[in-house]
Amino acid sequence: MPGDAATGGFIPPIYPYARLDALKQRAAEAPGGIVDLSIGTPNDPVPDIVVAALAAAGPGSAGYPRAVGGPALREAAAGWMERSFGVVVDPVQVVNCIGTKEVVASLPHLLRLRDPSRDTVLYPAVSYPTYAMGALLGGCRAVPVPLGDGWHLDLSAVSDDDAARALLLWVNEPGNPTGSQSNSRPLGEAVVWARARGVIVASDECYVEFNWDDVGDPAAGATALADGTDGVLAVHSLSKRSNMAGYRCGFLAGDGDLVAYIGSVRTHAGMMVPGPIQAAAPDATEGISYGIPMFKHHGMLVGYAAFKEHCSLFMSTALTQAHKKALAPYQTSKGTIRFTIEKPLPAALVRKLVKARIAQNEARR
Ligand SMILES: Cc1ncc(COP(=O)(O)O)c(C=O)c1O
Repeated sequence: MPGDAATGGFIPPIYPYARLDALKQRAAEAPGGIVDLSIGTPNDPVPDIVVAALAAAGPGSAGYPRAVGGPALREAAAGWMERSFGVVVDPVQVVNCIGTKEVVASLPHLLRLRDPSRDTVLYPAVSYPTYAMGALLGGCRAVPVPLGDGWHLDLSAVSDDDAARALLLWVNEPGNPTGSQSNSRPLGEAVVWARARGVIVASDECYVEFNWDDVGDPAAGATALADGTDGVLAVHSLSKRSNMAGYRCGFLAGDGDLVAYIGSVRTHAGMMVPGPIQAAAPDATEGISYGIPMFKHHGMLVGYAAFKEHCSLFMSTALTQAHKKALAPYQTSKGTIRFTIEKPLPAALVRKLVKARIAQNEARR
């Protein structure tokens, strides 16, 4: 039998969640039962707009989808990167993936095909297990990088030999399971360190919208592409952000040459996201941005948040200006409308503003 001890081949270890099953059973027997923090899977429903887009795309999806992602999906991903981080990537610098776990697991293999002279994958010592597994599956050495302050990578601990052999460096901020904050300084430092040594950086940014600052308030996350795409790939998943883990959809974006190579090999291998899922993904933008619930439709539509003394609706400066009279009883500043529980915004006014905002975004397409 291939891969058993007799052949000396690779023997897959027991999957981590399977190992946890036995532990869960034991924990459940303890007084008070189990607090299950094992699998991070979305509990909230798939957004209605995604369900509707999926259903609408079904009948027209008889043909093979594009492995790299259709134009609408690649444009949507590039647009999201620009709106979220101010980073400009051309849609051809985006490749669609079947969720991101398979990319994490297959990237070392693909990059090793491209550059057989390097054989080492560096990854955070406390991290998602698939970074190390992907290295093994790609025939590479998996070398953990110790974590220092704030659970960020301590790259000073990487030996010269490991650095010279390194094909790929994984970073993951916000980090799973450490909870490290997404922070442009250590990300930028990792990119500088890797570029100086000819190492590709893959930044797993699947939790970038679940970030906080030093005092625990929600804060915008950072991307490793902030200092340019050269030698850098950012990996993004819709699983947690848009409650779409079951749909299996994500993308990687960054260095044009690397993305083209990866896209080409994936096309040969038929690694494609089903057409209806690709069609649903561009609308999958009802989620959390900058730490607040945000609805998006061809760009940011409306966000809302509750503070100690008031609530706020975030829209656009042009709209608050255009509806100045109706909004006169409320405090406004640029695109923000403040209201309180004692003096709420009437639902009819909110409906009118959202409709106007939709029209505004659609006119810009
Ligand atoms: C750090 C990290 N990266 C990647 C993934 C893969 O997510 P998906 O394959 O759903 O995109 C996970 C899933 O839990 C994760 O925690």
